[in-house]
Amino acid sequence: MSTDSIDSLLTENRRFAPDPAFVADAVATPELYREAADDRLAFWERQARELVSWHVPFTEVLDWTNAPVARWFGDGRLNVAYNCLDRHVDAGNGDRVAFHWEGEPGDTRTITYAELTAEVKRAANALAALGVGQGDRVAIYLPLVPEAVVAMLAVARLGAVHSVVFGGFSAESIRSRVDDAQAKVVITADGGWRKGRVFPLKPAVDAALAGATSVTDVLVVRRGENEVEWVHGRDHWWHDALDAADPEHEAQGFEAENPLFILYTSGTTGKPKGILHTSGGYLTQVAYTHKNVFDLHPETDVFWCTADVGWITGHSYVVYGPLANGATQVLYEGTPDTPHPGRWWEIVEKYGVSIFYSAPTAIRSAMKLGRQIPQGFDLSSIRLLGSVGEPINPEAWIWYRDIIGAGTAPVEDTWWQTETGAIMIAALPGITTLKPGSAQTALPGIRVDILDENGGRVAPPRGGLLAVTEPWPSMLRGIWGDHARFVETYWSKFSDPDAGRWIYFAGDGAHVDADGDITLLGRVDDVMNVAGHRLSTQEIESALVSHPIVAEAAVVGASDEMSGQAVVAYAIVKERHRAEHSDAEFETVLKQHVASEIGAIARPRQIYFVSELPKTRSGKIMRRLLRDVAEGRPIGDTTTLADPAVMKLIEDLSGSPATTSITTTVPTRKT
Ligand code: WT7
Repeated sequence: MSTDSIDSLLTENRRFAPDPAFVADAVATPELYREAADDRLAFWERQARELVSWHVPFTEVLDWTNAPVARWFGDGRLNVAYNCLDRHVDAGNGDRVAFHWEGEPGDTRTITYAELTAEVKRAANALAALGVGQGDRVAIYLPLVPEAVVAMLAVARLGAVHSVVFGGFSAESIRSRVDDAQAKVVITADGGWRKGRVFPLKPAVDAALAGATSVTDVLVVRRGENEVEWVHGRDHWWHDALDAADPEHEAQGFEAENPLFILYTSGTTGKPKGILHTSGGYLTQVAYTHKNVFDLHPETDVFWCTADVGWITGHSYVVYGPLANGATQVLYEGTPDTPHPGRWWEIVEKYGVSIFYSAPTAIRSAMKLGRQIPQGFDLSSIRLLGSVGEPINPEAWIWYRDIIGAGTAPVEDTWWQTETGAIMIAALPGITTLKPGSAQTALPGIRVDILDENGGRVAPPRGGLLAVTEPWPSMLRGIWGDHARFVETYWSKFSDPDAGRWIYFAGDGAHVDADGDITLLGRVDDVMNVAGHRLSTQEIESALVSHPIVAEAAVVGASDEMSGQAVVAYAIVKERHRAEHSDAEFETVLKQHVASEIGAIARPRQIYFVSELPKTRSGKIMRRLLRDVAEGRPIGDTTTLADPAVMKLIEDLSGSPATTSITTTVPTRKT
């Protein structure tokens, strides 16, 4: 993207200086920036000591000798669950509400810190009874019910490692994750509520565990009350296991680098990467960012992050950050529009949500429905808004502030990734003058740069590649079982190991303006971002070619007004199957196939059937061209037009022989 278009993107240079009333009581102070600039490690040391309770205090802050695998606070010991639970109870805050949980059908549960602690203790004992101990992996496949949080914390309490698989993923996805991590136990539910209906979960787990598996036991939460099949000896009801468990459980300290969780995310190749996070550094940075970026006043605020715990946002800003800080939260099981389009705003009003953290796609959908829907509710409790997952366009930013935030709430655009574990780039409320559309600057303690292809720093105002130039506490410690891929994916582009220079390549394009503010421009690799969820083009291509009728497939992320990007596929049907069905029938079958291979979020918006895929001489699919077609741009470049493969594509899609003068767009098929 050119500098010109960035300037127009940041509409009319609108700026919002911090509101003096907000500043007066703001958590973050300019001192944070100064302190971190003076001595970064001393800064993190202070955060780690203030925000985390250590069973054994650390003496060493960072050990980077084994780069790019960092050790933070390496000789300290802690229990992450103790930090999220017992210590708040011990401090006299046991009666504080941890969660106002709201089920989609309207059932509710209020859970205090004391109650949450008690339940996690029982769950930890129940897991220990199944043989789960330090380092063992436990897969979690649940709807957004309190048990999901309890399960994660119980695993953490034992020093074991959770791998949460988003409830929308398929049996196939569960299988590959369980196998990769060699999970011992799976925690699931009979089903959950979504869009007014119970969707079954256990059948996917049953299918995933068919055949040889590392899993010995399955705990099943009763939620949907749908009928389930039962494997005797393997399956146990969660409530029975907890009832039978000892209520007392003393949290033991584990080393700061003890693995806390694996979370799988899509990369450029077909196989999802198991991103590994550890304990002390992760907890420090999620607590630090949650407190300062969201201006958390735990005694009075009600925080609501709308993410599911199946994603990193849910790990860091539903579970670990807010609970470490003793926050009161809202947790909502269902979709924003069930049973009516104002459901989210009704929940904000009901619980007096003061800090609301969501995704641009959700904001754009609310915008499309119209302001009268949120305006039908009392949203006056809201005083700060957050956004994450994809770039937020200035129009959506301003609508969000005006309509949801009464025109006064700071809007925090937060850039980070599954790999970074916690927020990296964001304004600080009460300090930063906000610039709609820009994530702005690295947080105190974080160092980022915008680099050119050769690793040189670009001179602002200019675009380039986003890099993190110094290690940070919540950084990933690796890809589970694949050190080579870890080094190759993140550390090979800009690092110079011989010179001891390690630079993290984020995979995002970014622009830095004359003020030093950073605007994210989207992925520069073959990773798509659909409604804030990361999908790999190759993973969907593999899913498509795994269907017997498909000979070859190519997938691109095409820009989409609502979801940022949408999945658009091109497929070649095998010659012998072509006559069997119409394109429309093939399309339905293949969309369903992708959904069952990966999950509904990966379902293509559109599939074009072609007889050839345009490739370069070296055999690489010309994705840019396919993206042009998918986005309805003319294919006008004469060098590509001279290519017979491109001519063939144009012919396929326009239904008439191409002539060299073709620059018309391919008709978009309504699907
Ligand atoms: C990718 C990471 C971090 C939690 C949710 C997604 C994109 C994330 C922003 C933002 C522009 C953003 C990037 C990044 N992204 N936040 N504020 N502005 N882009 O986590 O699935 O690991 O995806 O999401 O492209 O690389 P994830």
